[in-house]
Amino acid sequence: MIVYCATSNPGKLREFQLAAPDFDVRKLPNPDPPPDETGDTFEHNAMEKAVAYGQHVEGYLFADDSGLEVDALNGAPGVQSARYAGEHATDTDNNALLLKNLAGVANRTARFVCVIALVKDGKPVKTFRGSVEGRILDGPRGSGGFGYDPLFFHEPFGCTFGEAPIGDKMLVSHRAQALSAMFSFLRQLPS
Ligand code: IMP
Repeated sequence: MIVYCATSNPGKLREFQLAAPDFDVRKLPNPDPPPDETGDTFEHNAMEKAVAYGQHVEGYLFADDSGLEVDALNGAPGVQSARYAGEHATDTDNNALLLKNLAGVANRTARFVCVIALVKDGKPVKTFRGSVEGRILDGPRGSGGFGYDPLFFHEPFGCTFGEAPIGDKMLVSHRAQALSAMFSFLRQLPS
């Protein structure tokens, strides 16, 4: 089955394609700029994106919204994760601000959250949520992954997501869980 995805983030696209070898996951060739993410939940923003992009394709399309929730920061950066340090912030900017805001803070528990929204012919079908627990280190470790991965220490791995091979991250990640739920749902549909 062909399933379209809408993302301009190469890190995410790689993870989408690794998640389900039995599906033909295709990126929209020339997606319009995404709608502003105005909602205060991952569900709202993911569905807004999926509906906007889904207008351009027949059949199934999914979009995700994801981010990092830090307990000591009351869930921030949350839905603002990509723009934590400003509208055009880089991963380096966002990571630096996170470390600054956590300076001297003992409780470093955090989780990555991902919500995938699925639409068919541009109409909402369902959302799927995944999350993975970790803690934020005092400085980056590893150069793999993207975003906050080098700061995110995952206890069962004994290393950060930036140090872990992508195949290992895909076994446990928030995005992998949400994708797996979506692909299970799609596999159950009558053909
Ligand atoms: P989105 O494109 O609005 O979903 O923003 C996601 C942002 O959350 C990314 O730009 C990263 O900063 C962060 N993020 C989400 N998932 C991950 C991940 O798997 N690793 C590291 N950072 C992530």
